[in-house]
Amino acid sequence: MKQLPQVYRPFIIAAIVIALTAGGGLGAINLAAMAVGGAVGTTWLAITQAHGHAQIFGWVGMFIMGVVYYVVPRLKGRELKSPGLVAASLWLVLGGIVLRLIAQPLSDGVPFGHLVVLSAAMELVGVSFFVYLSLNLLTTDAQARAFYDKYLAASLVWFWILTAATLTISVYSLSLGIQVIPYAVNAAYLQIGLMGFVGMMIYGMALRTLPLFMGLRAPNQRAFDIIFVFLNVSVIARALVMLAADALDIQLAPWLPLTVSALEYGSILAFVWFLNVFRKPEINIAETGVDQGYEKYIRAAFVWLLLAVTMSFGYSVYRFVTGADVDSAYIGAYRHALTVGFISLMILGMASRLVPVFAGDKLHSSRLLNATFILVNAGNVMRVLSEPLAREFGGVFFVTMGISGFIQLAGLALFGYNIWQTMRLIELVAPKEAATSSKADDSGHSPRMELPLSRRPATGRSSAKTLQS
Ligand code: HEM
Repeated sequence: MKQLPQVYRPFIIAAIVIALTAGGGLGAINLAAMAVGGAVGTTWLAITQAHGHAQIFGWVGMFIMGVVYYVVPRLKGRELKSPGLVAASLWLVLGGIVLRLIAQPLSDGVPFGHLVVLSAAMELVGVSFFVYLSLNLLTTDAQARAFYDKYLAASLVWFWILTAATLTISVYSLSLGIQVIPYAVNAAYLQIGLMGFVGMMIYGMALRTLPLFMGLRAPNQRAFDIIFVFLNVSVIARALVMLAADALDIQLAPWLPLTVSALEYGSILAFVWFLNVFRKPEINIAETGVDQGYEKYIRAAFVWLLLAVTMSFGYSVYRFVTGADVDSAYIGAYRHALTVGFISLMILGMASRLVPVFAGDKLHSSRLLNATFILVNAGNVMRVLSEPLAREFGGVFFVTMGISGFIQLAGLALFGYNIWQTMRLIELVAPKEAATSSKADDSGHSPRMELPLSRRPATGRSSAKTLQS
């Protein structure tokens, strides 16, 4: 049995546990500590970076790995080449994240600096297995390629580059005897992670699933081919500009950062426009009886994306006009409009739509899903507004900033419980799917599996439409 019916499960559990502890937990404590200390901008840089790393590789990375391992073999009607490598990728990446969390805050002393390098090496091996297995599925059969595959493939390549950069930077930091990723490379590093790896994966998955799930007008493939080029050029160009300005101290012409920022802004606006996610759907999904509770997450996520990229472009205009740098409070607000607002809401929405299908039943509780939506959004609105306002006016805004992290954390905890209860139902359907997937032929091809990701009611046990391209 190589289709691995439960493959997503340990990845999603790991993602949620990390989001609640090193991610949301540590983040909320950090934010509260900033508020209590009356400061905006963390003084706890090694821990902040460990938090950012755990969120990108753990909460987001692990979730993406689980979904890709489950969905892509079914899209392509092929098996994952080696279940052993799947398990190895899980333990190596998870082990690397945990090791970094422990070692990075202590890494100015021996042997912790070396352990940070070891953690990065473990992640690189694990991510290499994941990228190899997934790219193999996406690229082997040229005839089965779909227009959105290039987004998924680009995300995988960015993931590998990000992980290789993590190792390189860790070795460099060790050689300097410092605990943190040097400021000079951090912005470019995060740009590759958030806009390259995570962004491309979300865009690719959105193109594949949302028109079908939400009954949207079919995507204009030609437009998305062009947008793909612009999006990737903008990731490269922005990262290079950041490196040139921060690391190499090159005096760039002021119009250059503004232009690459405009390129990113325009590409993302075009993506959202052509996705038709804010237009009236062509098909009324309500008539099919599917629980549409997740749709508000998707729309809210794209509102947050538009807000985040507007902030980012606004900061570039500000730098161009004044020649001054933007305060860290504004950067923190932008970063979490993107990471919590766009990326995390997208994960929460997709998980609440997909996991019940994987598990073969309905989501445990729609009410909990609604409560999560309110808490995460309310907490993030408070945080994104309070951080800059605390910088400008202090006072009560420190209070709202300090509690906002715990409100988001409560929302994530309810989500974790909801998904956990939903996944417990899998035992009911796993044997059936295992029997289906065992019919692979010797060439490594399995019959294209019916993956019940259709517009029909999410009882999930049968479906006419599949995710196959
Ligand atoms: C409950 C939710 C969260 C809270 C309370 C939180 C809190 C924080 C705090 C206090 C900082 C430090 C300074 C600042 O930006 O103001 C920070 C930095 C950061 N956070 Fe979060 N965060 C949360 C969720 C996330 C998520 C979901 C991601 C990514 C998917 C993320 C990625 C990052 C990154 C990349 C940094 C910057 C690290 C660096 O400077 O290298 N955070 N977060």
